[in-house]
Amino acid sequence: MGKNEIRLIPASAIRLNLCKHVYGIAAVMSLSVFLFSSAARAQEPSMNVKKENFHNGMVVCATPDAAKVGLDILKKGGNAVDAAVAVQFALAVTLPEAGNIGGGGFMVYRSAHGESNTLDFREKAPARASQNMYLDSAGNVVPNMSIATHKASGVPGSVDGMVEAYNKYGKLKWADLVQPAIDLAHNGFKITEKLASDLNRSRAQFVKLNPGKSYLLKDGDWKEGDVLVQEDLAQTLMLIRDKKREGFYGGMVADLLVSEMKNGAGLISKADLQNYHSVWRKAIYGNYKGYKIITMPPPSSGGIALLQLLQSVEKYPLHRWGYNRDSTVQLVVEAERRVYADRSKYLGDPDFYKVPVDSLLNPAYIDARMKSFDWNAATPSTSIQPGKFVGYESDQTTHYSIVDKEGNAVAITTTLNDSFGSKIFVGGAGFLLNDEMDDFSAKPGVPNMFGLVGGKANSIQPGKRMLSCMTPTIIEKNGKLFMVVGTPGGSTIITSVFQTILNVIEFDQDMQQAVNSKRFHHQWLPDVVYEEKDALSDSTETKLKQKGYKIVERGPSGRVDAILINKAGYLEGGADPRGDDTKLGW
Ligand code: DON
Repeated sequence: MGKNEIRLIPASAIRLNLCKHVYGIAAVMSLSVFLFSSAARAQEPSMNVKKENFHNGMVVCATPDAAKVGLDILKKGGNAVDAAVAVQFALAVTLPEAGNIGGGGFMVYRSAHGESNTLDFREKAPARASQNMYLDSAGNVVPNMSIATHKASGVPGSVDGMVEAYNKYGKLKWADLVQPAIDLAHNGFKITEKLASDLNRSRAQFVKLNPGKSYLLKDGDWKEGDVLVQEDLAQTLMLIRDKKREGFYGGMVADLLVSEMKNGAGLISKADLQNYHSVWRKAIYGNYKGYKIITMPPPSSGGIALLQLLQSVEKYPLHRWGYNRDSTVQLVVEAERRVYADRSKYLGDPDFYKVPVDSLLNPAYIDARMKSFDWNAATPSTSIQPGKFVGYESDQTTHYSIVDKEGNAVAITTTLNDSFGSKIFVGGAGFLLNDEMDDFSAKPGVPNMFGLVGGKANSIQPGKRMLSCMTPTIIEKNGKLFMVVGTPGGSTIITSVFQTILNVIEFDQDMQQAVNSKRFHHQWLPDVVYEEKDALSDSTETKLKQKGYKIVERGPSGRVDAILINKAGYLEGGADPRGDDTKLGW
């Protein structure tokens, strides 16, 4: 470790330690006060760690081991894209729930000179996919078919995405970026308490869906500190190290993937793999009170929705109202309701469906949408079908933010969709397949696993990319890098990124506070305001309920990992205490 480097303890470790050592009601009460009072909310989770003036680079991502891999690459002279490639592969090993080579994602990039670009490495529907593939003969959606079957997987994009990003911007040797992940898979790494419990929770499904395979299984339960070795995954990563794209989309790995598909009546063919290519897309931009927002265009809905949300609230005095006060919450909820309604109708893969980007972002349109809300009463959402919302703590996607010494910045959100994707491994190759096909609209108006509804724009077609909420975003202030931000969280991704930005720009929170702060969420359907425990004060809740808002408590929302360039010009990280997320700078 360099002299200047401080290993920041993952916030969850602190939380868990506190939990272990706290006994008795009084102590539990004081713990809750510590965790949930608004004063405590404003504290860094790792309060005993001195803030350092990092200026050479920073990595904030979901696991301590992957953060270390990224930082090492930066210290070796790698740039932000080099570090991102290394982190992506390291997460595929150390965060099997979401880090992946069998999934896809999006990258937003901004060079130190201010040029920006985005890479779409989202999965695609296989050529044999079809619009009604998840419907039974009566035309009803077959439960779980787009989630936990071989047919749930889109053609993976992550490896091609990393190769593309590297070919365009990478500096160090490709092999040196993949090797740390190989080492982690081959030598094993110590698992956290959270990963142990995630693995134990999914054990029954791993067994059921993978007869004859023993990936991520052990005799008895996993415990914190157990060493997880993934030898087949190491072999696959070696092929990627040696043959880049061809190591995954051709040769042995492609053979194994296609034979896995055949065993489980899946659709991905060799031609699908060979034909998969990620796409460079022009970033979409917006302005919020002088800050320039650089974000992901479709097939993510995230960027457009974020820009719509920011525009919808821009002219209101949020700063004066304050963080999570009733007027703030009401305004934000009403903006979210309208934006998610648009999402369900107008957003889809732009290669297949003309997304009316300009109309959706037109200030006059946004104004007109916001005119219809009434301060005295909640606007009821037009009901199509009430959505179902996943209540358990979900962290099936992952986001990482990186800034290098020159000031190049990368925001990547990547996913298998559900926790551990389809929970189906490619036999012999040791990696998990995504269940991203569930992000398509299987049938107009029928909600997906996140309660999101859609229609024609997001219907299934061969070769089409499913709509996403992922919102990797970079913000500039006065032409200079200001923030790098993103999160997992399914449908809550957009609203979590939105609130994190407001927390910094409107409510003067530092990066860690902004990430820690409790969040709430509305997505049009179901017509419910979801709040993390104690996100809203009793008086705010009472006032909102009087106006007709239905408020429901849910588990932790998102895992925001972000970097801010603070007023002094130093890098300030925000690693989400809701997970094992870690920030490392130097
Ligand atoms: O692309 C999307 O919007 C979803 N597949 C993301 C899934 C996700 O964030 C799950 N994690 N909580």
